[in-house]
Amino acid sequence: MKYDFTTVLHRKGRDSTAAEVIPFANAHVKEGFDPIPMWVADMSFPVAPSVEAAIKKRMEMPNYGYFQLPDAYYDSIIWWQQRRNGVNGLERQHIGYENGVLGGVSSAVQVLSCPGEPILIHSPTYVGFTECLKNIGRPIVHSPLKRDENGIWRMDYEDMDTKIKKNYIRLAIFCSPHNPCGRVWERWEIERAMEVYAKNDCIVISDEIWSDIIMPGHRHIPTQSVSDDARNRCIALYSPSKTFSLAGLIGSYHIIYNDYLRQRVQRHSSMSHYNSCNVLSLHAHLGAFSPEGEEWADEMLSVIDDNISYACDFIKDNFKGVKCMRPQGTYMLYLDCSEYLRERGMDIMTLLLKGVEYGVIWQNGEAFQWPDSIRMNLALPKSRLIEAFERLKKYVFL
Ligand SMILES: Cc1ncc(COP(=O)(O)O)c(C=O)c1O
Repeated sequence: MKYDFTTVLHRKGRDSTAAEVIPFANAHVKEGFDPIPMWVADMSFPVAPSVEAAIKKRMEMPNYGYFQLPDAYYDSIIWWQQRRNGVNGLERQHIGYENGVLGGVSSAVQVLSCPGEPILIHSPTYVGFTECLKNIGRPIVHSPLKRDENGIWRMDYEDMDTKIKKNYIRLAIFCSPHNPCGRVWERWEIERAMEVYAKNDCIVISDEIWSDIIMPGHRHIPTQSVSDDARNRCIALYSPSKTFSLAGLIGSYHIIYNDYLRQRVQRHSSMSHYNSCNVLSLHAHLGAFSPEGEEWADEMLSVIDDNISYACDFIKDNFKGVKCMRPQGTYMLYLDCSEYLRERGMDIMTLLLKGVEYGVIWQNGEAFQWPDSIRMNLALPKSRLIEAFERLKKYVFL
């Protein structure tokens, strides 16, 4: 490996949510077991050297006054989207800065729906959507994903259609790839979903924050690319933050081809004067969306793929009654513990707290609207991953 994916970063005391917070009230870690953060969705790897170099280079100019997003910002997005997703015809005018993908989702929902208006989302659901929609007073209508005979999470198009009609829904949030299920939707699946949305005149906010974290054998299909209608019907949100571990720097962007939708979204997000890029975030972005950043990202993907294989094989061999679909994208693993819990008459919180006791800081999957489930972050050095799974075997999944 050319890049460093093995150094264990000691993030405690260094402004890290992952390392500072244990996401359970009254949980404690036993003496002798150092906490291994495996919950919030950021990576425990050092950033790409091109990102670090770009930030340092900007710091050589000791002034951080007002600035404009340069052409290089838009060019880097057009270049990245072309190389990674095969997107052609993307122009500067279609792109707009967003203060975070969730911020972009929230802003778009507020401009395209009114308070009290229901929004369709699949469940399991990224917890950020749930909280954000609750905060802005939009009721959620869930269309549950279904697992097929091979345990692969699939959309239920009939259910989507029925719920959209029954609730007069005009706005949906689509998560692609899907967090927490790890699905990289195939083209035909997105086409069918978009047909349902089109038939019901439903605008779609397509959250593609995970679009770079795609495992071998899968390909990210931008929602806007499946048809002319989809290109016009969608607001797509992207960010280098998951791919390059830049969440703490903030900085995302939208792609909106439809002039009407883009003007509405841009008008709303500019009115507050809160939606402005940070200059160090800009330079981190430029370092990320560069040839060296791309090389780093490819190595990172092979590390995640290896971690996924390790975790899934380990679970199959050692944790009877625990099931998971091998993630096709993202670095999140979603465990179905229902059988394990049923056989023992145990509840999910008891299991979760037992893991935390031994330093495995994982996350309650119920926050993602699915019972008896656990979400685990696999973007950490393999040595830490092995340590976590060995502890789970020795002390937790008995
Ligand atoms: C699907 C999805 N959307 C949005 C976000 C949050 O993005 P941001 O930090 O850019 O607001 C996450 C973070 O995990 C996510 O998984």
